[in-house]
Amino acid sequence: MPRILVVRDLESGYGEMRVLWGVSMEVERGSISVVLGPNGAGKTTLMKTLMGIVRPWRGRVIFDGRDVTYAPPHVKVRLGMTLVPEGRRLFPDLTVEENLVLGAYVHGCRLEKVRDMLDVVYSLFPVLRERRRQKAGTLSGGQQQMLAIARALMARPRLLLLDEPSQGIAPKLAMDIFMALKELRDSHGVTVLLVEQNVAAALKVADYVYVMEMGRVVKSGEPGQVLRDESFRRAYLGF
Ligand SMILES: Nc1ncnc2c1ncn2[C@@H]1O[C@H](COP(=O)(O)OP(=O)(O)O)[C@@H](O)[C@H]1O
Ligand SMILES: [Mg+2]
Repeated sequence: MPRILVVRDLESGYGEMRVLWGVSMEVERGSISVVLGPNGAGKTTLMKTLMGIVRPWRGRVIFDGRDVTYAPPHVKVRLGMTLVPEGRRLFPDLTVEENLVLGAYVHGCRLEKVRDMLDVVYSLFPVLRERRRQKAGTLSGGQQQMLAIARALMARPRLLLLDEPSQGIAPKLAMDIFMALKELRDSHGVTVLLVEQNVAAALKVADYVYVMEMGRVVKSGEPGQVLRDESFRRAYLGF
């Protein structure tokens, strides 16, 4: 089986400004890969370019053996790629469950499938089941992030892209989210590619790590391998 995602020499930017300078990656099916790097490195731009929200200038994005470099986001969603963007764009005045059901209907799911997916996401995030009738806007930040992830899952992606899911939430909830991602990988075979600032936590769940600086992947490998690199440890972990 081919790798689920292959990225070759991807370049993109905004207007005249180039942000990605030839990013390449090979994401193994059923793995959790983490993209680390300082602010402004181009991590969000990479996620948006992979998803087709930002248009590639050059290079290739191959999803499941198919060239999707120039496919628009809704086509990618239909093929099985979904992005949970930075920040959480929920419908605050709708309930938790309404947000979830909308996540499915946007992608044209059938009713039975919607019920199955609700069961899956509620078992991943039990707090969402408890609060299913509560308005999304009244959830804590961490619960809203769980809801954003759960809503993305309603589209039944095989590749889930996440941009800083633990940003601005309590460490305990961040850990719950990472555990849910592991569960998704292990029990549902979902491949996860996430951008993370919380390097220590990310290294605990990652199967593979990419370090981005100034629009390029400057280092990559399994966590143990990356951790053996002294310049990496000093820059990202402070020892
Ligand atoms: N919509 C945009 N328009 C113009 N420049 C942008 C836009 N989004 C990001 N940038 C610029 O692109 C560079 C990379 O940003 P970004 O991809 O958000 O990095 P990261 O997510 O790693 O912090 C930065 O210099 C940023 O200012
Ligand atoms: Mg970012």
